[in-house]
Amino acid sequence: MKRNLKELISNMTLEEKAGMCSGLDFWHLKSVERLGIPSVMVSDGPHGLRKQDDAADHLGINNSIKAVCFPPACLNACSFDRNLLKEFGSAIGREAQATDVSVVLGPAVNIKRSPLCGRNFEYYSEDPYLTGESAAAFINGVQSHHVGTSIKHFAANNQEFNRMSTSSEADERTLREIYLPAFETAVKKSQPYTVMCSYNKINGTYASENPWLLTDVLRNEWGFEGYVMSDWGAVNERVPGLKAGLDLEMPASGGVTDQEIIAAVKDGSLDETILDQAVERILRITFTWLDNREKETFALEEDHQLARHIAEESMVLLKNEGVLPLKRNEKVVFIGGFAKTPRYQGGGSSHINSFQVDSALEAVSEIADVAYAEGFSAYHDVYDESLASEAIDAARNADKAIIFAGLPESFESEGYDRQHMRIPDCQNRLIREILNVQPNTVVVLHNGSPVEMPWLKDVKGLLEAYLGGQAVGSAVVNLLYGKVNPSGKLAETIPLKLSDNPSYLNFGDKDEVHYHEGVFVGYRYYDTKEMNVAFPFGYGLSYTTFAYSNLKVDRSELTDMDTLTVSVDVTNTGTVPGKEIVELYVTDLTGSCSRPAKELKGFEKVALQPGETKTVTLTLDKRSFAWYHTGLKDWYAASGDYEILIGASSRDIRLTTKVHMNSSQKLPLNLHMNTTLGELISDERTREFGCLLKQKMDKLFGADAKLTDNDSDEDPMADAVATSMPIRNVAAFGLITKEALVKKLEELTQKVN
Ligand code: BGC
Repeated sequence: MKRNLKELISNMTLEEKAGMCSGLDFWHLKSVERLGIPSVMVSDGPHGLRKQDDAADHLGINNSIKAVCFPPACLNACSFDRNLLKEFGSAIGREAQATDVSVVLGPAVNIKRSPLCGRNFEYYSEDPYLTGESAAAFINGVQSHHVGTSIKHFAANNQEFNRMSTSSEADERTLREIYLPAFETAVKKSQPYTVMCSYNKINGTYASENPWLLTDVLRNEWGFEGYVMSDWGAVNERVPGLKAGLDLEMPASGGVTDQEIIAAVKDGSLDETILDQAVERILRITFTWLDNREKETFALEEDHQLARHIAEESMVLLKNEGVLPLKRNEKVVFIGGFAKTPRYQGGGSSHINSFQVDSALEAVSEIADVAYAEGFSAYHDVYDESLASEAIDAARNADKAIIFAGLPESFESEGYDRQHMRIPDCQNRLIREILNVQPNTVVVLHNGSPVEMPWLKDVKGLLEAYLGGQAVGSAVVNLLYGKVNPSGKLAETIPLKLSDNPSYLNFGDKDEVHYHEGVFVGYRYYDTKEMNVAFPFGYGLSYTTFAYSNLKVDRSELTDMDTLTVSVDVTNTGTVPGKEIVELYVTDLTGSCSRPAKELKGFEKVALQPGETKTVTLTLDKRSFAWYHTGLKDWYAASGDYEILIGASSRDIRLTTKVHMNSSQKLPLNLHMNTTLGELISDERTREFGCLLKQKMDKLFGADAKLTDNDSDEDPMADAVATSMPIRNVAAFGLITKEALVKKLEELTQKVN
């Protein structure tokens, strides 16, 4: 139905319009019945519906309707599978239609800056490219049912401590390259109906009243068309927020901020057209949903199966020294409270009231006869002698021991950060004791964020189940017994210890958190520093093996207006069907600025029968090569060489090739008396003049001025001293007059700009 929103808005009173800009209650927007504007509902999000009917809260405390808990983003990102994530989104869209929810509050795309962030389980990755691609696929799935999404939390919300007041202090390049691209990709590829601004400040300004963020970047640069809503309680000052681009305040403000808006319009401090624009954006989304209602049913059982499938496609086999898959006739014991009561989701606003939860113990009973010993509780860090000794005996008497370990619920949640990266001591102790009696030990981890693994070198198998959603147990069992071949890969690095993390010295601060590590986040840091890690980004094993060959690029030279097509053959060289995730990284060899050793710029998951070969094709463009140049206020792919790396992980690069970029961009020329001789010489536009000045300097100092004792004619030290010299010194040494120098600089600047 075609609606004339402008006309509708012109019939609304000032009070009705102001009222549209804040919630009716916890989950609803206000209606204007006389004009046919309904009250629509929004609901968390992201990995299932948390639709609260009665007592409402935003912290996951009160119950919501029975629903399906899909694997949270910490796990589903490990699928590296856009189609699967779209299918997942589509299921959420159907569920939302079935339950009258107009906007689902997700996906959550904040970057995992530190393993300590309590909410990492809800976030996809440490890598902005993978995060953006995953989010865009999910959003496209949800919105294919005309249900909105609310991509969150915009932006730089990377810790829970003091999340409502702390300021994330990051330079623009870091924001543009690490913390914003996932939002940008999602806006450009999937146009989310809404964006949720975060609680925190960014460089001193609350996200909820940040015009640079909410209008300049989000709308004017990226072309966002939907409405911006606040996180629950994120509004600091309502009227400045509205002016900055915050359309909807959630939840209800008790009418207080509506009155502020009304007063501001009346006293002329708020232009009414700004209010009208916000109302129009909100109504456009409301009516998009209303005019496209679908008759859906909440297919609980069907979606449970999808939740299992997503978990199976995502869990990551990290170690396997011939111990997996398990065979049905082996004498196996499952140990650990998580085998019976799995941890499968995180705490807080995303908490789902699951209609069913599969434990591994139940699931395995359909496949094999395994023994069980609790060993330790899934909830507490208490070493229980009798539970432990029972588990040790059981392990001793078995062919293989599978220990279901991980983080109890209280160790990580929305609202607070972890203090350390360890699993409970009681678990580490028992794992050690079991290893003393049973060499064939496998650990299955249940955690929303990386943990230290002091026993890593001694276990024969390790399956990272992350938080697996409500079908976790069936998925784990199917993978352990080889009914499904593992194919997930890590969406983050697992460092050896917390202090290795680049944000270690600057995380969790109270008022201001300084992102001193800049763009060197996750593997961008570990790989550039060549540090040992427990498991690298993009790593994951399969029960089969893959070979890579025939890397080709469709051109060896390109400009920043071209695309580059890269293809590579992948062969399943093992004996069982499997899926491989092919990763493409780019290394900048131009030396144009300090950049990470490599950055992920493409990936594809491919299914292969034993012996089968498929060609994987990936496309790169300017952004795949570029960094954000703050002087240029744009992305910049400098001229020079770049290496294309094809890998099975960030540390397992199988094939490489080089391409040459010819940039069409000219950097701004900013010449002044403190420009160095070196800067003049390195820029082709000023080289001639730079060399002239350098010659004068060389002449002045002559051979006598040699600054080192080497007997060659070359003097690297004198050269270095000269090139780092500000050109004002050339004048100070009387080699050129100051006036002549100023004139020449003006001439050069005019010629270029
Ligand atoms: C969370 C959001 C969530 C909202 C509503 C807030 O506390 O940060 O992610 O969507 O509550 O529950």
